[in-house]
Amino acid sequence: MELTYRPRRLRRTASLRSLVRENILTASDFIYPLFIHEGQDVQPIGAMPGANRWSLDALVGEVERAWELGVKCVVLFPKVSEELKSEDGAECFNANGLIPKAISRLKQELPEMTIMTDVALDPYSSDGHDGIVSSDGVVLNDETVDSLCKQAIVQAQAGADLIGPSDMMDGRVGAIRESLDDEGFEHVGIISYTAKYSSAYYGPFREALDSAPKVINKKPIPKNKNSYQMDPANSREAITEAQLDEQEGADILMVKPGLAYLDIIYRLRQESELPIAAYNVSGEYAMVKAAAEKSWIDEKSVVLETLLSFKRAGADLILTYHACDAAHWLRDGLFD
Ligand code: PBG
Repeated sequence: MELTYRPRRLRRTASLRSLVRENILTASDFIYPLFIHEGQDVQPIGAMPGANRWSLDALVGEVERAWELGVKCVVLFPKVSEELKSEDGAECFNANGLIPKAISRLKQELPEMTIMTDVALDPYSSDGHDGIVSSDGVVLNDETVDSLCKQAIVQAQAGADLIGPSDMMDGRVGAIRESLDDEGFEHVGIISYTAKYSSAYYGPFREALDSAPKVINKKPIPKNKNSYQMDPANSREAITEAQLDEQEGADILMVKPGLAYLDIIYRLRQESELPIAAYNVSGEYAMVKAAAEKSWIDEKSVVLETLLSFKRAGADLILTYHACDAAHWLRDGLFD
């Protein structure tokens, strides 16, 4: 054949392929999510093989391991005991609570590690919602935002670097920014869960924290989060959320889940100049682990290909439970 263009020329050798590779992955792209609890033991999470609920002592070791692998940011999620949960979730702004304790401990031991937090009421709410549920079953916006601001302040006081509102209440980014500034935390950033979809992919996470919506007495509790998390059928709404978060002072925008929403990452990349994060959520992790356990897929290749797809779509950073494994595998190079 007399072909002018033969795209295979640049695919011929590993060094040519690496020369023209458009996207790369590095350990410093990753944010490693970790679950913690009050106990002294390390509890494996059923639907997330390899992930655990860490005690504070064991957490330090795991975060040190991540740092040594080149992972430079962790995000912490608390499993709160039932006695500390309440309808208003007030434990979320207890300055001596599990999260502030963990943050100050990590900051003492590993001051350079960036600590991100999650801001929402669900781990602390006896109703299992991200906001306060009224007696007639409405997730209240403005009342919730007051608590979220207090939660953010307590986290910043403990030493958090990045505050991550994941609740999807309206106006929370602006309100948190103002509260942080008023308290002298101008230097603390906000990584907003901007386009957070109402997704079934969060199932294993809710198991890890025992945080799914639940009815305890007669109060009518919404059984899902559809009145605040986004409809998976929508994409324009993600742009509106991004514009609002940007106006309200977000430093980083996040899309969540990641894999089923690559189009949203791509669209936000076109619309905004802010850094974009993708959250490779618990259900995505569980699917890979389950298939790999059965030897139906090759875990390493699938994980690296998936993480790279977030970069290709336009994400700058990736929250992933695979962070340490991926960092380890990347030491051998991405692909040959
Ligand atoms: C809490 C929160 C959730 C996740 C992160 N923060 C769960 C939810 O909204 O129900 C999910 C993360 C994951 O599935 O990995 N607001």
